Amino acid sequence: MKKFSDYKKLDDLVHDLDLGIDHFNLDVLKEEVDLGIIKVNNRFVVQPMEGVDANLDGTPSELTLRRYERFARGGAGLIWFEATAVTKEGRTSRNQLFIRNDNVSAFKELVNKMNAWKTEEFGANYKQAYFLQLTHSGRFSKPNNVSEPVISYHNPYLNEKLPIDPCYEVITDEYLEELEQKYEDAAVLAYEAGFHGVDVKCCHRYLISELTSAYNRDGLYGGDFSNRIRFLINVVKRIKNRLGDKIAVAVRLNIYDGIPYPFGFGVDKDDHTKPDFSEPIKLIEIIKDLGVKVINITMGSPYYYPHVNRPFDTGGYLPPEDPADGVRRLLQGAEVIQKTFPDLIIVGTGYSWLRQYAPQIAAGLVHKKSISMIGFGRASYANPNLARDIIEKNEFNLKRTCITCSKCSDLKKLSLKCGCVVRDIEVYLPIYQEAFKKGRI
Ligand SMILES: Cc1cc2nc3c(=O)[nH]c(=O)nc-3n(C[C@H](O)[C@H](O)[C@H](O)COP(=O)(O)O)c2cc1C
Repeated sequence: MKKFSDYKKLDDLVHDLDLGIDHFNLDVLKEEVDLGIIKVNNRFVVQPMEGVDANLDGTPSELTLRRYERFARGGAGLIWFEATAVTKEGRTSRNQLFIRNDNVSAFKELVNKMNAWKTEEFGANYKQAYFLQLTHSGRFSKPNNVSEPVISYHNPYLNEKLPIDPCYEVITDEYLEELEQKYEDAAVLAYEAGFHGVDVKCCHRYLISELTSAYNRDGLYGGDFSNRIRFLINVVKRIKNRLGDKIAVAVRLNIYDGIPYPFGFGVDKDDHTKPDFSEPIKLIEIIKDLGVKVINITMGSPYYYPHVNRPFDTGGYLPPEDPADGVRRLLQGAEVIQKTFPDLIIVGTGYSWLRQYAPQIAAGLVHKKSISMIGFGRASYANPNLARDIIEKNEFNLKRTCITCSKCSDLKKLSLKCGCVVRDIEVYLPIYQEAFKKGRI
């Protein structure tokens, strides 16, 4: 496997990625972007990254506030808040954010603080947007830190991973109809809290993403394409009907699951290692017509072939491909979507593994109009100031770079507070060491 350390200069990586980029001026990353609801100062995005540190009642804790304060002061144009549950049984842990009528004031306080922190750093005119990702974790739900799957159909590949018994109960259409209402209500709360946008999360094989491949489900939400996307479409319509243009409706979308047909979305029917973007493109056409303007492109699932989801150098297993191939799949996938929909704001995923070369490669893609905004997940944990370093100094801080070691994912898997064990050692190293000592890692 060719690791990142095998690349000694930008040219070598650009050659292997083979993305057809040849302009590396970083100024394009500092351009304003119009998200419809707000124009933001630059093209940087902090990707949604669960911290597993919310209070038991779903509100942000001191540690949650610490993470978001660092992100706000880091200057990215768009901060895409992490997966936030719309219902208790859909939480990934008992410390996942969970927005409700009786705790919305805590979210409002968080957004107010974000505005204050960003203003303190950059002044009142600095435009930074806050989107809240709404989720139901479906088969990966662990509301009490042990697995309590909520499944929409039996998927042999994922059933085997958890594992789930083939007789395990599947949720009803009535459950899904009620859940649509909960998404709508959560979006209204997000609006009240002051978020500029909500993301109807449809990725990584959580519930809504699972439904996109529910070929083998009976009833209204399974079978043909229009049934499989029904839930997402209904929720987008409901939020639009209720709130109009008062809040942006965005979608973080899996355009390729990497799971064989008929159990994966966006896969070639004969060869699941290859994407087939025809259905994702049809879906985007529909949500675009409903008024969705911002789409965050992603792939895979952290529970099934994590290397597709977040290319890494070291993790639980040796990936069957070079990480650069995984990065290329993510960047080219987003490019196909951006080129098909030049008017949409497409956010790209998969830049953390590129370390110090990420800004140049991102600039090259922006220059050829292959992407609108650049998302950093693990790299934002490692260096919340990444955007600011580039914007103010054209500098990438090597001492704060993510090394794609997968330790943040290890913590998340164990439902422990999670962040960068390598670059934020004061907080996260002791948590990691404790888990290691107990033999949990
Ligand atoms: C610890 C951890 C938590 C994550 N939490 C979320 C989340 O809440 N919502 C989401 O859509 N993706 C989540 N992701 C995926 C990231 O947003 C991102 O897609 C992935 O890490 C690949 O991007 P990167 O290479 O920049 O890290 C998480 C990833 C990790 C490692």
